[in-house]
Amino acid sequence: MSRVIQVEHPLILHKLAFIRSKNTGAKDFRELVEEVSMLMAYEVTRDLATEEVEIETPICKTKCKMLSGKKIAIVPILRAGLGMVDGMLKLIPAAKIGHIGLYRDEETLQPVEYFCKLPQDIAERDVMVVDPMLATGGSATDALTLLKKKGAKNLRLVCLISSPEGIKLVQETHPDVDIYVAGIDERLNEKGYIIPGLGDAGDRLYGTK
Ligand code: PRP
Ligand code: URA
Repeated sequence: MSRVIQVEHPLILHKLAFIRSKNTGAKDFRELVEEVSMLMAYEVTRDLATEEVEIETPICKTKCKMLSGKKIAIVPILRAGLGMVDGMLKLIPAAKIGHIGLYRDEETLQPVEYFCKLPQDIAERDVMVVDPMLATGGSATDALTLLKKKGAKNLRLVCLISSPEGIKLVQETHPDVDIYVAGIDERLNEKGYIIPGLGDAGDRLYGTK
């Protein structure tokens, strides 16, 4: 069973309160999503492998630790996932970026795929799938399935706000994928929105409603 890692750092909780507020406009919303994503990246990369290297300080030679092992890919689920990319890149600047385009059909709530472009060597990379919202879990589940079909093996999912239903679905369908999340909310409403949530993340990021 995959792990659910809830990242409850006070800075994240503080910024998340502003993100949730309906009084926060698109400019501040975008900046806050980027900042929280950067802080989440710190936790998501906690277990990256390191190796010992020798370097020379101005005084003497010494042994230090540096990152080793596999390279990283960040894969946002369009559109809202794009809002998390720059923040994560601040801490992982060498990561490659893939894009998966999915939208939720408003009637059926089922995800519809419209775009997929991934780094060629996705199978050799640690893949971080990013999307601010994990609601029914349909979009995340489909994105993870698609990535596995394309060869990705080592995946983790990074969200800002999730519902218990979304977490359950991802855990059932992708038990190998750890989920990093800042807030686990109460439930979904009849339209598949997270309660209390933050509303529609894509519309708030891009001012489309
Ligand atoms: C939102 C969100 C997730 C999805 C979550 O995207 O960014 O991708 O809904 O819902 P689910 O867990 O029930 O699948 P949306 O479909 O609104 O598209 P957008 O990002 O283009 O606005
Ligand atoms: N997508 C969103 O953007 N918000 C929700 O609450 C659910 C799905």
